[in-house]
Amino acid sequence: AYVDTKDILDKASEGYYGVAAFNINNMEFFHAILEGALEKKSPLIIETSEGAIKYAGMNDPYRGARFFVNMIKDMANTVDIPIALHLDHGNNFDIIMAAIKAGYSSVMIDASHEVFEENMRITKDIVRIAHAAGVSVEAELGQLSGIEDNVEAAENVLVNVDEAKEFCETTEVDFFAPAIGTSHGAFKFKGEAKLDYDRLKKVKEVTGKPLVLHGASSVVQEYVKIAEEYGADFGGSKGVPADVLKQTVEYGINKVNTDTDLRIAYVAGLREFLAHDAKQFDPRKYQRKAMDYVKKVVMERIDILGSANKI
Ligand code: G3H
Ligand code: 13P
Ligand code: NA
Ligand code: ZN
Repeated sequence: AYVDTKDILDKASEGYYGVAAFNINNMEFFHAILEGALEKKSPLIIETSEGAIKYAGMNDPYRGARFFVNMIKDMANTVDIPIALHLDHGNNFDIIMAAIKAGYSSVMIDASHEVFEENMRITKDIVRIAHAAGVSVEAELGQLSGIEDNVEAAENVLVNVDEAKEFCETTEVDFFAPAIGTSHGAFKFKGEAKLDYDRLKKVKEVTGKPLVLHGASSVVQEYVKIAEEYGADFGGSKGVPADVLKQTVEYGINKVNTDTDLRIAYVAGLREFLAHDAKQFDPRKYQRKAMDYVKKVVMERIDILGSANKI
């Protein structure tokens, strides 16, 4: 069934488990993710960035948002797991409105680059509009950036606990993304993966909200190796290890944003397949191995986060 993201995440917050939110840009990733979630009987959050919406709508956000709602809502209503569709990192007012109008389950307003007061003001405005339309809202505080061992830098870029409390109370967001040391993409840490667990625990305590971890991909080396065996170069790539993810879930993370891991699995499968079958030119055939690797990553992720059989 097609559901509100808030329903999935309120349950996850009560039960202290995580639900991955998987980014997509097209049908093939959606199908591969859905296959994995169905096999695991896991609730599912699909998310699309503003770039994905522009891409799908051939630069028209309204067309793009409707494209994803049509594809996902219809499929969701034929299967036995809860599925939500979320706008990831909404920043452009037109795209946020397009997502709300088209029927997204939830939107993120990302004004985390603004100063605190301005972020609060913008977020509160979007919450008012979205809630009137029955759409739930995510917002973020702090910058997505690694901290290494620099304590002073950490104070400047990571979420501030007192601000998190005031922000959640004032804006009435439904779920909250605190910056605790992760970053987007395949190159998250130079040395050891370091996240600020202490800050995370306190944010959970003072906000009581379902919490979101951005930049949560693990950059699974198994797929990095396959991709590199067939010509890719992902030298120096590093993600959030599975045991670190588990720890964040234990301390209150419930929505675990995952894009990079799917992209790497897909390209590994595609490169591997094409290297072995020079005669193939049917996309339904040459994409299958890529989709199988995406599906495997999805199932592994569901096991790590503990959302299997939580439907
Ligand atoms: O927030 C980052 C997500 O991985 C989406 O990235 O803007 O390339 O679609 P994108
Ligand atoms: P990754 O780049 O770690 O997959 O993060 C994705 C994300 O945070 C999307 O909002
Ligand atoms: Na998001
Ligand atoms: Zn993100």
